Amino acid sequence: MGKTGLQLGVLSFGSWVTFAKQVDDSDSDRLMGIAYDNGINFFDNAEVYSLGESEKMMGRVLKMKNWDRTSYNVSSKVFFGWRGKENKPNQTGLSRKHIFEACHEALQRFQLDYLDLFFCHRPDRDTPIEEVVWSMNILIQQGKILYWGTSEWSAAEIMEANMVAKELGLIGPAMEQPQYNLFERTRMERDYLSIFKNVGLGTTIWSPLASGLLTGKYNDGIPEGSRMTLEGYEWLKDRMMVEDKLARVRKLETVAKELDTSLATLSIAWCISNPNVTTAILGATKDKQLTENLKALEVYPKITQEVKDKIDEIMGTKPGAN
Ligand SMILES: NC(=O)c1ccc[n+]([C@@H]2O[C@H](COP(=O)([O-])OP(=O)(O)OC[C@H]3O[C@@H](n4cnc5c(N)ncnc54)[C@H](OP(=O)(O)O)[C@@H]3O)[C@@H](O)[C@H]2O)c1
Repeated sequence: MGKTGLQLGVLSFGSWVTFAKQVDDSDSDRLMGIAYDNGINFFDNAEVYSLGESEKMMGRVLKMKNWDRTSYNVSSKVFFGWRGKENKPNQTGLSRKHIFEACHEALQRFQLDYLDLFFCHRPDRDTPIEEVVWSMNILIQQGKILYWGTSEWSAAEIMEANMVAKELGLIGPAMEQPQYNLFERTRMERDYLSIFKNVGLGTTIWSPLASGLLTGKYNDGIPEGSRMTLEGYEWLKDRMMVEDKLARVRKLETVAKELDTSLATLSIAWCISNPNVTTAILGATKDKQLTENLKALEVYPKITQEVKDKIDEIMGTKPGAN
């Protein structure tokens, strides 16, 4: 992962929206089993997912599975808190108080002794960066987390954290978790380039299928039970169910057909063909979705420059130089 010694599989598995909302203990047990048996060694989570219930569910599954703790990695993320509308001051953000308490609470929910990865889920403009860097370093020294990173931070914010860490002789952020898919490319393909080159940065990218849009499942309307039907996710539906986006996904189908694969596997294979992607975090509510998505590893060698050019022309999302 980036310039660390940590080895993450190129695909990983996350629980946003799904765990403790769409899937129960037995579903998540099966899904995590399929993931692990296929070489996935990183499970992603956050304090805010299902307001803490997602971490509890993943923790119960890990306990039941009794896999060797050294064989997998688990993350949490701090920032949004887990009490939703009940969050009081200091129960969100990146103050030392909330970073420490969020870490302790996540460990309790997971029933684990340490987190492998701990992310600052968003930047906190109210907390000095020195406080964030110090807090993460203390948690590392205490053995409660192994690597710390950021999620959806700008290139300037990541660089500032690195510079402060260097100045103080502390460990800087090792990874960033940005959205990356055929619609959202600017940060990964333009903004972070100098950090990849000059500092080194692992990336655990999210929503490789744009919440399912890039599977083509929404091309003819919204299927029952899918993410876009969920209460509380109307904002996502409004952002995704846009005719211009759907039209491009429909066109993309021709490329998938030419490669004799599905839109989902093509879209995921395209993400991992970017050498700056350490791992793409998959999401799934059904076994067959996950099994299909894992085939991206077989499709990956087919993502040649020619295929990429064709995709760029259809999507029109390749960032320019500025
Ligand atoms: N750091 C952050 O801010 C952030 C934000 C978002 C996510 N994440 C992380 O990234 C992970 C993945 O994100 P994501 O869940 O949005 O990924 P995604 O791959 O874009 O979407 C996954 C969803 O698409 C549908 N789907 C997946 N494969 C399919 C297939 N083959 N056929 C049909 N439908 C399929 C399923 O939803 P339905 O069955 O409900 O339709 C599934 O839950 C999360 O679990 C989380 O760990 C991080």
